[in-house]
Amino acid sequence: MHVFTTIAELRAWRRQAGFVAFVPTMGNLHEGHISLCRAARAACDQAGGGKVVVSIFVNPLQFGQGEDYLTYPRTFEEDCAKLEAAGVDALFHPDVAALYPRVEQQYKVEPPAIQHELDGQFRPGHFRGVATVVTKLFNIVQPDSAMFGKKDYQQLKVIEGMVMDLDMPIAIVPVDTGRADDGLALSSRNGYLTADERAEAPRLYRNLAAIRTALQNGDSDFVKLTETARADLENHGWRVDYVEIRDQERLEHARPGDKALVILAAARLGRPRLIDNLELTLA
Ligand code: PAF
Repeated sequence: MHVFTTIAELRAWRRQAGFVAFVPTMGNLHEGHISLCRAARAACDQAGGGKVVVSIFVNPLQFGQGEDYLTYPRTFEEDCAKLEAAGVDALFHPDVAALYPRVEQQYKVEPPAIQHELDGQFRPGHFRGVATVVTKLFNIVQPDSAMFGKKDYQQLKVIEGMVMDLDMPIAIVPVDTGRADDGLALSSRNGYLTADERAEAPRLYRNLAAIRTALQNGDSDFVKLTETARADLENHGWRVDYVEIRDQERLEHARPGDKALVILAAARLGRPRLIDNLELTLA
C-alpha cells in the first residue's frame, strides 16, 4: 500500500491510477470502515479495474468547541495494518498544515438549511466543516466514486446534495451500517463507552427498531412513537438530543402517507454521544 502525506505525491500517483474509488475516514478504523473498502473494491471491479484510495484525516473544521477533536482516537499503525489486509492500494494521510496551510481557511462550502437541523442543531458548523473537507479531498483525490456509510445519514445526504448541486463528477455509494451482534452501530466513539455503558448502548438501536415495527404495522402517530423512545432512553440515563422520523430523500419531517422513511436519533450515554438511524420503506 502506498502511503502519501503530501497533496503533490498523491496527485502524481493518481494521474496514472485509472478508475479510483475513494473512502474518506478520520481513522480509528473498524469493521464498518472495512466494509466501505469492500464496496470501493466492488466499484473498481465493476469498472473493469481500478484503485482503492482511503484517506485518514481528523478534520478540525468539523469539530465544535468542547467536542473531542484533541482526544479523537488516533491509531495510525493499527489502521495501516487493517487497510493493508483489506487490499487498499493507497492511503492519503496529510497533517493539518498540508490540508489547511493558511491560518484562516477562507473559503468554505456552505450546505443548505438542512445543515442546521438534526445533528446540525447540536453541532453548529459541523456540516460546513464536513462539506469543506470532503470537497478538498475530492479535489485532491479526484475519485470516480466515493463510499459513505449510512450510519452518518445526514452527512450522506449533505454529500449527495453537494455533489449534485456543484456538478462534481463522482458517484456517491451509500453503504449499510455495520452492527455488533446486539445491534449497536459500529462507531469509533463506542471506544469511549465503559463496560456498563456498552451493555446499555444497544437500547438506542432497539428503540429505533421498535419505531420501525410500529410504522410497518400502520401506526402513523410520529409524535407518540418518538416521544415513547425518548422517554425510554431518558428513563435509562440517556440525554437525548433528538429522535425523529424524516423522509429519506430530503430529510424533511415525515408526513402520514410518506413511504420512504428514516428514523434518526442522537443521544449521550455518559461521555459519548451516539447516533443511529434505520431506513424503512412502507408498502
Ligand atoms: O465520516 C467521517 O469520518 C468524516 O466526517 C469524513 C467524511 C471523513 C470527513 O471528515
